[in-house]
Amino acid sequence: MIDLRAQAHGDIHARAVNLGILASGTGTILSAIIDSGLAVSVVVLDRECGAMGVAERSGIPVELIERSDFGASFDRREYTMRVLEALRSYSVDLVAMAGFGTVLAPEAYRADSGYPGKILNTHPALLPAFKGWHAVEEALAAGVAVTGCTVHIATETVDDGPVLAQEQVPILPGDNLESLHERIKVVERRLYPQVIAQFMAGDFEHSTNTLQQATSTPLSDMLGPSGRDQEVLGRARAGGLGTGRIG
Ligand code: GRF
Repeated sequence: MIDLRAQAHGDIHARAVNLGILASGTGTILSAIIDSGLAVSVVVLDRECGAMGVAERSGIPVELIERSDFGASFDRREYTMRVLEALRSYSVDLVAMAGFGTVLAPEAYRADSGYPGKILNTHPALLPAFKGWHAVEEALAAGVAVTGCTVHIATETVDDGPVLAQEQVPILPGDNLESLHERIKVVERRLYPQVIAQFMAGDFEHSTNTLQQATSTPLSDMLGPSGRDQEVLGRARAGGLGTGRIG
């Protein structure tokens, strides 16, 4: 867990950066985040899925907010407000989407209701190429030699927003959807936890100034030197996260 420290009257008061994860899928990215040593405060799911078991086995609270409960025409705003309420109830400071299949309403990205500049996403393509839910199929169909993954700050526009990290993955002869997506996910499982930890440490603040200004307190302003968390951050910076559980 990352300590956020504030110095007041000579005392150090520490609290944790609370990371909330949004997921809909098998949960292998969630699993990699947990295994990296980052503490997860809550996992919010929009449907029953493999990520639920991953969270439960790690003793992480799960909030299942099923999108199918929000009407035939899907009340996106109402759904988003419920997700935000759940995140707030766990005092979440930073949100990471890990294969989340619901597009959140603009309220998620607004200062008065959501987490502007503090929702991260991983996408299985080299954005801005191949946005959307079918990114891997589309890269295959396009016949490109190289695709990859992108970690970025999410904004109101789907698969847009400042890019924090990208890594290439070659498309091999005989690749199909499953083989290619799995090779991309191998990279995501290493890269995403690393970038989340670096984001917490404030490594991207200069390049994401505009979005950070919309937030009340940059996470890095609250970071302090605590043993285990500094170890996680140190390993993230050295590129060593994602290789096993710390502590
Ligand atoms: C990842 O490729 C992510 O980029 C995409 O959904 C996938 C999630 O994988 N949005 P998993 O369900 O965690 O295995």
